[in-house]
Amino acid sequence: MSELHTPQAGDDGAKDTDVVALLMRQHGDIRNLFDEVEAATGDERRDAFRRLVRLLAVHETAEEEVVHPFVRHGVPGGEDVVRDRLAEERAAKEALAALDEMDTDDPEFLPRLARLRTDVQEHARAEERYEFTHIRRSTDVTNLAAMAKAVKAAEAMAPTHPHPGVESGAKNMALGPVAALMDRTKDLVRRTMGKDG
Ligand SMILES: [Fe+2]
Ligand SMILES: [Fe+2]
Repeated sequence: MSELHTPQAGDDGAKDTDVVALLMRQHGDIRNLFDEVEAATGDERRDAFRRLVRLLAVHETAEEEVVHPFVRHGVPGGEDVVRDRLAEERAAKEALAALDEMDTDDPEFLPRLARLRTDVQEHARAEERYEFTHIRRSTDVTNLAAMAKAVKAAEAMAPTHPHPGVESGAKNMALGPVAALMDRTKDLVRRTMGKDG
């Protein structure tokens, strides 16, 4: 079985202080995990999907906590930009939760995953265009470093590589645990930001 290589933290040598580089890499990791889920079958697909769910949950939570607040207050027209992004994230979370309750072998799974993928990619492109470019121009170095640190801390909760010894599909982390993961990520991000801010 051919193995797709999904890069993870550190593979790209992105500086830990560059919050935009970190988030752009996560967008790439998410794309690669969609590829992995689509290419795999059976337990491997279930396993790759678990990693995708975790990374998406952690990534979107970190953006909601650090990126959107920064853009809302620091970018002209930021209120509108953030309102649109939050609506997209809410829709994606609902689609993700619905998929999470499905069997990954269900014939409906892949078509629905493909729809989520299209939405998630459009959302990521809008973030890159309307948020990340402005963040890059910001001269608020202290805040930029604090955001990067928080994104890194959150990322540790979502390994993108399979872990030997972890039973595939043994536990179905449905909506409850995904929501709990988002809560834990939120706490962690807030603590990390608080320490530096
Ligand atoms: Fe997002
Ligand atoms: Fe994003």
